[in-house]
Amino acid sequence: MCGIIGYVGREQALGGMLLEGLRRLEYRGYDSWGVAVGQNGTIKVAKQAGRIIATNPSLPDATIGFGHTRWATHGGVTDENAHPHVDCTGRFAVIHNGIIENFRKLRERLQQAGHTFVSETDSEVIAHLIEDAVGESQDPDAVVQGVRAVFNEIRGLNAFIVLDNHTRHLFAVKNVSPLVLGRSERGAFIASDALALVDHADEIHFVNDGQVAVIGQDQIQLFEQATGEPQVLDWQEMTLTAGDTGLNGFPHFMIKEISEQPDVLRRLVTDGIEPVRGLAELIRESYGTFLVGSGTSSYAALTGSYLFSRIARRHVNFTVGSEFKYQEHFLTERSLVVALSQSGETADVIEAVMAAKERGATIAALVNVPGSTLDRMADYSVHLNAGPEQCVLSTKAYVAKVAVLLLAAHILNGSEHAGREIIWQSVDGIEQLLSPIANDNLLTVSRSIVDHDHCYIIGRGLSYPTALESALKIKEVSYIHAEGFAGGELKHGVIALIDKGTPAIVFSPLDETRDDILSGAMEMKSRGALIIGVSPEHDEVFDLHIPVSDVGDGSPIVNVVPAQLLGYQLALMRDLDPDKPRNLAKSVTVK
Ligand code: F6R
Repeated sequence: MCGIIGYVGREQALGGMLLEGLRRLEYRGYDSWGVAVGQNGTIKVAKQAGRIIATNPSLPDATIGFGHTRWATHGGVTDENAHPHVDCTGRFAVIHNGIIENFRKLRERLQQAGHTFVSETDSEVIAHLIEDAVGESQDPDAVVQGVRAVFNEIRGLNAFIVLDNHTRHLFAVKNVSPLVLGRSERGAFIASDALALVDHADEIHFVNDGQVAVIGQDQIQLFEQATGEPQVLDWQEMTLTAGDTGLNGFPHFMIKEISEQPDVLRRLVTDGIEPVRGLAELIRESYGTFLVGSGTSSYAALTGSYLFSRIARRHVNFTVGSEFKYQEHFLTERSLVVALSQSGETADVIEAVMAAKERGATIAALVNVPGSTLDRMADYSVHLNAGPEQCVLSTKAYVAKVAVLLLAAHILNGSEHAGREIIWQSVDGIEQLLSPIANDNLLTVSRSIVDHDHCYIIGRGLSYPTALESALKIKEVSYIHAEGFAGGELKHGVIALIDKGTPAIVFSPLDETRDDILSGAMEMKSRGALIIGVSPEHDEVFDLHIPVSDVGDGSPIVNVVPAQLLGYQLALMRDLDPDKPRNLAKSVTVK
């Protein structure tokens, strides 16, 4: 959930590297931020609640330092609770990602032993535990032993980095939470996402669970946390570039990423089919396939279950990541679990995958971040190749996941060509929605919604998950309460919510759901709702019409785009930052 970046080298760490890296990592958490540098025997810290300030904090520059963006779990959003946290002696600073489940006990014990705590966080215990574990020793090996011992003591899924100002090294260890090492002539780096190391590192290495990394100016070493055995580093060329991380002329990442969707789909059909064929084969061979994901990824997974049923006549189960553990009991060694995740780091999904692995199931991943935890845990991965998603809201990775599942269903059905054709039609369909004329029409629709507290969205069949995803896109960025329903559920209670002027978005593709969904729209209109139809054809029940292309089973790919754009426009109309909605973080690495 948090963003981490650290540097040891010959250059000045603060401005160009740490703060710039933190700004790129802000999508991981933006309640508060902080940096620490080691200089002249003392550690200097600057940290505060709120977004990262535009100017550099008044800290001395130094050749060793690290920084952190926080998404609060334990302790409110205050300056004191922001990371880094320093031990009683001022020798060690610590930044942390995760939740220390046994922190209360540890804190009590440390306080009884005389340690002074200045924050309410669980993270601060690490600084004091390290202080006790290392004592006066000035030997980096002693710090490695200390880190190993402290990691053994804390419970939960955690990653932490220790800055030791005496040995001038950073020490890092992790369990599930991601960490990547980097190196170049400029020095040695560590971060929670390779994105932060663009322009700095030439080569990267992903740290595995249960490894301790020791980062010095001229050398990076890796040890197994449990045994202390040295480990081999597998350096890979850094392939991300500044072009992948910038706004490229767009005002926000959200609209940049929405606009990239046609390219994402083009890449999939031109260069990305082979891995999808492999996925289809795994599904064919399995005795039971289960799609699992959280949030937007869960709606892509639910869409997948409809697509496999309609196109490949195959029953594929669907479960939300956090619910998987209550439903896993049916898994066997012949089951296939397909985990969907943009980040590849979502704790609920990782936990589900761990449980499935324990039962001997095969794991396939649909993942956008190569080298992420899910990617490395999976037996088989389809990389979405959507490029970095930096807006907290997921857009292009959703469309990529649905397109992969649609293609896989067609491949299973022996109709790959038809599947590819649908994706090409979807590319055109999205491009039309990105045109200035479509934009003006959507602005009119946004104006009709912006002053309302509630908005309802209905769809049936394939459009039901689209309604759920559309509602999520609108509510999480505009804070207008938007709720998606299966069209048929209206009469079972939902219709009580409809009041005069309530905006209701109705997905009405030209498929077998059309008559039923339009009669649902009529029922809402009769109770005063303002009906906004998303459909290739106008209907008299629509008060406002968002025309979309008729792309058959590709409708979930195209029809979500108006909702993404409405969410964006509504956020701007309400003076909100579309890239960083309140209370959210992009990678939810805590349970
Ligand atoms: C919504 C959104 C979240 C994520 C969810 C899972 O716009 O971004 O709902 O979809 O946190 O994230 P991943 O796909 O990274 O597992």
